[in-house]
Amino acid sequence: MKIAVLAGDGIGPEVTHEALRVLDALGLDIERGEALVGGAAYKAHGHPLPPETLALVEGSDGVLFGAVGDPDCDALERALRPEQAILGLRKAFGLFANLRPATVFKGLEHHSALRPEVAAAIDLLIVREINGDVYFGEKGFRTAADGTREGYDVMSYCETEVRRIAHVAFRAAQGRNSKLCSVDKANVLETSQLWRDIVIEVAREYPDVAFSHMYVDNAAMQLVRNPGQFDVVVTGNLFGDILSDQASMCVGSIGMLASASLGSRETTHGTFGLYEPIHGSAPDIAGKGLANPMATILSAAMLLRHSLGLADAALRIETAVARAIADGVFGHDLGGTAGTTEIGDAVLARL
Ligand code: IPM
Ligand code: MG
Repeated sequence: MKIAVLAGDGIGPEVTHEALRVLDALGLDIERGEALVGGAAYKAHGHPLPPETLALVEGSDGVLFGAVGDPDCDALERALRPEQAILGLRKAFGLFANLRPATVFKGLEHHSALRPEVAAAIDLLIVREINGDVYFGEKGFRTAADGTREGYDVMSYCETEVRRIAHVAFRAAQGRNSKLCSVDKANVLETSQLWRDIVIEVAREYPDVAFSHMYVDNAAMQLVRNPGQFDVVVTGNLFGDILSDQASMCVGSIGMLASASLGSRETTHGTFGLYEPIHGSAPDIAGKGLANPMATILSAAMLLRHSLGLADAALRIETAVARAIADGVFGHDLGGTAGTTEIGDAVLARL
């Protein structure tokens, strides 16, 4: 088993370091290689996703990814910006299904932006499509009819893309509480109308799953009003990006949410995937030992489960994190005082 570690920018290396300590402590036979990605790769090699990084990923069963984003690179042409590395990896390896679980660990309900009794009910999974939508459509700048500048990004989904993510979501629902809510904006967007038509077709193959639709504006509202109503939510790239950040605040902190990005490539023990915290590189706190590594540690657990077939080891990690939370180990993001290493130590002690 071989994993590629791409720590990236900002707090990426710090949080990844803690996740690797946790993996090491499990004593598993996992080989690993490291490579630069994002702004760090641009500064060293002139590209956010250099060939050597792609080659390392190509030869691996899964990728543990930290974060990308560097203010020094914000003025570069878009193709060279750090964010292109993650978008490029998702595209290059056909990673179309982004699983973003949001669960309130016991003890966390008092740290949510929501009232504790509302937050305590959160146990949902956002299945976000990440290979299409307005993210990857034609984009550019042009001159409008009145001579002023105009920016544009084309939104589209084809049937095949919608159908494959719908199947992932229905199957995920079958493995959970058998409820699926598809989120779109079909009252305004044709892209969403097609999305809705296809998801309805796919739903016929899953009569055991209670299926519903919701417009994205309503979904944003319901997520704070009564998040306990959701089991699995399936949505497109842009809506999923926004709703998953929102879900993280409902849970307590963006420092807690892990993610898996999966495609259809099989490994010896599972499915090839890329695993990353949903938070960004947080340049303002980088290098200060303040970042919460729990989201990355939980991402490493997802890697073990989905790409390496090590569900027991994954559960050990998740249980250790849950215990650390229950014991009051809170990072600065949750109003606590525990630093990056301290949180790593706390999880290790509970493994
Ligand atoms: C995420 C991030 C990325 C996205 C950025 C860094 C390109 O916000 O994974 O949620 O928009 O998908
Ligand atoms: Mg995001």
